Amino acid sequence: MTNKITSLSEYLEKYQESVANPEGFWEKIAEDYYWHKKWDKVLEWNFDEPNVNWFQNGKLNITENIFERNLFMRKDQTAIIWEPNDPKDETVKLTYGELFEKVSQFANVLKKQGIKKGDRVTIYLPMIPELAIAMLACARIGAIHSIVFAGFSANALADRIIDGTSNIIITSDGGYRGTKTIPLKKIVDEALEKCPTIQKAIVYKRTGEDVPMKEGRDIWWHDAIKEVDTECKAEVMDSEDTLFILYTSGSTGKPKGVQHSIAGYMIFAEYTFKNVFQYSDGDVWWCTADIGWVTGHSYIVYGPLLAGATTVMFEGVPTWPDAGRFWDVVDKYKVNQFYTAPTAIRALVAQGNEFVTSKDLSSLKVLGTVGEPINEEAWRWYHDLVGKGRCPIVDTWWQTETGGIMITPLAGITPTKPSFATLPLPGIQPVIVDAEGKELKGNSVEGNLCIKFPWPGMIRSTYGDHERCRQVYFSQYKGMYFTGDGAKRDEEGYYRIMGRVDDVINVSGHRIGTAEVEDAINQHPKVNESAVVGYPHEIKGSGIYAYVICDELSETEIANIEKEIRATVTKQIGPIAKPDMIQLVSGLPKTRSGKIMRRILRKIGEGDATNLGDTSTLLDPGVVEDIIDGAKVEVKR
Ligand code: WTA
Repeated sequence: MTNKITSLSEYLEKYQESVANPEGFWEKIAEDYYWHKKWDKVLEWNFDEPNVNWFQNGKLNITENIFERNLFMRKDQTAIIWEPNDPKDETVKLTYGELFEKVSQFANVLKKQGIKKGDRVTIYLPMIPELAIAMLACARIGAIHSIVFAGFSANALADRIIDGTSNIIITSDGGYRGTKTIPLKKIVDEALEKCPTIQKAIVYKRTGEDVPMKEGRDIWWHDAIKEVDTECKAEVMDSEDTLFILYTSGSTGKPKGVQHSIAGYMIFAEYTFKNVFQYSDGDVWWCTADIGWVTGHSYIVYGPLLAGATTVMFEGVPTWPDAGRFWDVVDKYKVNQFYTAPTAIRALVAQGNEFVTSKDLSSLKVLGTVGEPINEEAWRWYHDLVGKGRCPIVDTWWQTETGGIMITPLAGITPTKPSFATLPLPGIQPVIVDAEGKELKGNSVEGNLCIKFPWPGMIRSTYGDHERCRQVYFSQYKGMYFTGDGAKRDEEGYYRIMGRVDDVINVSGHRIGTAEVEDAINQHPKVNESAVVGYPHEIKGSGIYAYVICDELSETEIANIEKEIRATVTKQIGPIAKPDMIQLVSGLPKTRSGKIMRRILRKIGEGDATNLGDTSTLLDPGVVEDIIDGAKVEVKR
C-alpha cells in the first residue's frame, strides 16, 4: 500500500519531513487520489478567525475515491461484513461492487426527494448497513450528513435537527441492542413535532414492528428504492465543501455541530487508518464503535473504505448473548485488527477470563483502543489475554474535532508503554502549554495540550456559529488549537493524555457536558439547582455524580426522586447521560460571586476531602461539611 510507513526509522524520517515541509508532505499523499481538478495551493490558514483551507480549489468527490478508484481491483472483494445483533441471524456481506450500487441507488432516492448539494440530511439509524449506505449516498450527491447516535432521546434529536436545519431524516422502524428493541420511529415522530423544517422521513424496515406512517411525509426505504436506478453520477465538490456535521458536547448546555470538509478529512482518514493499524490488503478490520460517533465515521466507514479494506460492522452489544460475543465475532470472520474502547475492555474483564480463553483468537494481529485513557490493568488484560502477548496495542488519542487519530503508536513499529498514547503521527505538531499559554519545551513537562499547525482532518467550523468555534478552540491560546485535554510529555518524549480540563466528562468514552446534564436535571419540577461532576468509575472510566437541590419533598417524593431525575435525564438527552450518583444537598459550594466551586465537588466525588484547598472564599463554607456528611461515596477527611 502506498504511503504506509514500515519502520521506526522511516517514521522518524517522515515526521521530520512533515514538520519541515507540511505542505509538501501532504501534497505528495494527495497525489494518490482521484481529482476532477487538482488544487491551486496546498494550504492557506490562520488560526485567528480560524480559516483553514486545504487543497484550495481542488475538485473531487469522496465516494469516487472509495468506489471508482478501488473498483478496478476490488469489485468482488467484500467491503462490509455486517454481523447482526442476534448471532443466529444471517450475516450480510457487501462487495465493493454491491455497496456502490446500493449507495448510488439511495443517492437517487435522495435526489428524487429534492435533496441537493449542501443540504443537511439527518440520519438516525441503528448499526445496519443502511447507515453506511445512507451516509455515502449523501456524500455522492454532495449533501451534508448529520448522524445522530440512535441512543439519543427525542429532545436531543430535535435539538440537533433544528441546529443543523435539515429538511429530511433517515431512520428505521426500530433497532435491536441485545435483548432490547429501541423504537426509533416513535422517537423520531416525537422529535419531529418540534422540527418544522423536516419535510420527509425515509424509514427502513428493520424490526418489522407496527409504526404509523405520516401521509405525505414518511416513505418506506424499500418502496423508495424501487423507483430509481442504480447509477448515480458523483457531484463534483470543492475540497473545502462540508462533508459532514457531527454534534459533540462542550462546556455549555448546547452541543456543537463540528464541521469537517471533504478533501482534508478524506486524506487524513485513510492515511491514519493504514499507518496506525498497519492494515494490509486482504486483512479483516473491525472497529466496534457506533457510526453515530466520530470513531465510526472515520474508522468503520471512511478510512477503511478509502483504503479498500474489508470492514466489519456490528449491530449488537459486547455482552449478549454472553460476554464472549466480541471474541466469537473475531473468530467467525478471522478478524486481523480489532479496535475498541477501554470501557468495553473493563466491562469484559469484570466478566471473567473464560469468555476469552475458550476462543480462537489466532487471527488477531493488532489491537487498538480509543476514547479515554486506558488503565494499566485493562491494558495488561487486553495485551496478555486477548492478544496472547503477540499483538501490539495502539492507544490512539484523538477527538471529534481532529477528524482522525493524532497521537498514537504505529502498530508493531513504535515501542509502546501502557497508558501512553506515545508519539504524534507525521503532520501533527502537538505542544504542551502552561496556564498562561507559554509553550513548555523539552521533556518531562505537563500542562494543556494544543496543536500548533493545521492538519488536513481538522475541524473547520461549528455549524451555524463560526464564532463559537473560534472561542472554544482558538481563543484560549493564541495561534493554537486547544484540545481541552491535559497531557504529560515524559522523559522520553512520550505523550500521556491526562483527561479533560474543561467541564466535559468522559463517560464510557462518550463526551458528556456537565452543563447539558445540569440543564436536563433542572427540568424536573422539584429541582431547584444542580451541579454535576465526574468521579472515578471502575467500568465507565468516569461516572456522573449529581449534587441536587430540591424543593421540600414528602417522604414518597424522597423515595422516588432519584429514579425520577434519571428518567428526566433519559428523556432530555438519553440513557448515556443518566447520573450514576445523585446526592440531595441543601446548598452548593459557591463563591461570593455565585460561581459553583466544582473543584470541591469533584474532590468529594473522588472520596478525598483531605485537601479541599482554600474554602474561605465560599459564601457559606458550612455547606461543604454537609455535603461530605451526606456523600454517596466514602470520603476521607
Ligand atoms: C478522550 C473520540 C486518553 C480525550 C475519538 C478527548 C482519550 C476525547 C483518548 C475526545 C486516548 C480520546 N487516551 N483520552 N487514547 N482518545 N480521548 O470527541 O479526552 O468522542 O478529548 O472522540 O476523548 O472524544 P470524542
